[in-house]
Amino acid sequence: MTPPNWTIRPGRDSDGSALIDLIWSCWSAYPGIRMDVDLEMPELRALATYYAANAGSLWVAEAADSVCGMIATRPLEGTTWEICRVYVDPALHGSGLGHALLDQAEQHAIAAGAKRLALWSDTRFDRAHHFYEKRSYIRHGAVRVLADISNSLEFGYAKPVNGVEALDIAAVTSAVGRLGAILIACVDGGASVSFLPPLSPQKARAFWLRVASDVGTGKRTVVAAWRNGVLSAVGMLDLATPENQPHRTEVQKILVDPGARRTGLGRQILRALEQEAAAHGRSLLTLDTRAGDAGESLYRSEGWQESGRIPGYALAADGTAQATVFFWKHLAHPN
Ligand SMILES: CC(C)(COP(=O)(O)OP(=O)(O)OC[C@H]1O[C@@H](n2cnc3c(N)ncnc32)[C@H](O)[C@@H]1OP(=O)(O)O)[C@@H](O)C(=O)NCCC(=O)NCCS
Repeated sequence: MTPPNWTIRPGRDSDGSALIDLIWSCWSAYPGIRMDVDLEMPELRALATYYAANAGSLWVAEAADSVCGMIATRPLEGTTWEICRVYVDPALHGSGLGHALLDQAEQHAIAAGAKRLALWSDTRFDRAHHFYEKRSYIRHGAVRVLADISNSLEFGYAKPVNGVEALDIAAVTSAVGRLGAILIACVDGGASVSFLPPLSPQKARAFWLRVASDVGTGKRTVVAAWRNGVLSAVGMLDLATPENQPHRTEVQKILVDPGARRTGLGRQILRALEQEAAAHGRSLLTLDTRAGDAGESLYRSEGWQESGRIPGYALAADGTAQATVFFWKHLAHPN
């Protein structure tokens, strides 16, 4: 398919009526959404001025001389920037224009110093949620009540540009697609992480949904790492240890997307998990990994001790049984 021929340019106040039409073409696909520009969104009549006054920017996409997309961004408190007003003409949904617009706004915000990106999305816009989750945003915070004529409720989404964060149940649930893709890529690449290839997206998704449930019930902690705005690594702690091991936790599933390896993410995840373990009062950490894998040198370099190895412990993709190494680490000062 030939890529659509659009251009993205700075928005102008004179785009007002075209932007109002564009927004309505998106909103009218959903039941219960009403639009009264003068009552609730008078800024649409001069939107470039509105964003300029808020130290932000507005862009408009045009195809065949007519407006077919828009996006804006503005700084919030600290180094967080908000992504706003992401709308693409329904005729161009699925064309890649949404990605191009989001690239434009994210790159502008990051160049201006953004360390974290945040946005709000109406709970009815399920297609948009899928898009933001694909772009590594995770659900964040409480649902916002707008008390407007459309009775809008909004999900908060956010992501760090670079960095590691612990995920709550809502965040893990919103990340199952991205985390599933990382798990599948690692398993396809030969990683020894309980599964054998080919791992289907459904099975990977089901795995992360079970993990989300465990996070919700306090049986696990999950941390994830972003690199240049892309969720690229994950790891977790099993906190559901027996009653005679309340001081122990097991590190599991440190997974780095193959395209983001050797950039320090594995080490960041491991250190974040050790901090999480300390925060949960766990002083003894254990893990196991396939002998000779990259993880072995990572764990040794972070001060983990080998307790031994068991030959033929787990199957590789070719059906051969391979050795596993067991490691432990004592944290000197758990909280
Ligand atoms: C193991 C894994 C998590 C490492 O992640 P990573 O982000 O590439 O690692 P980092 O960039 O943080 O590197 C940390 C250290 O790990 C070691 N390491 C990483 N990749 C390595 C490799 N290919 N060969 C040898 N050592 C390697 C090195 O000691 C490295 O330190 P250095 O860069 O200063 O030399 C990653 O390879 C992975 O996801 N593997 C598949 C899944 C897996 O096996 N997980 C372990 C389950 S217990």
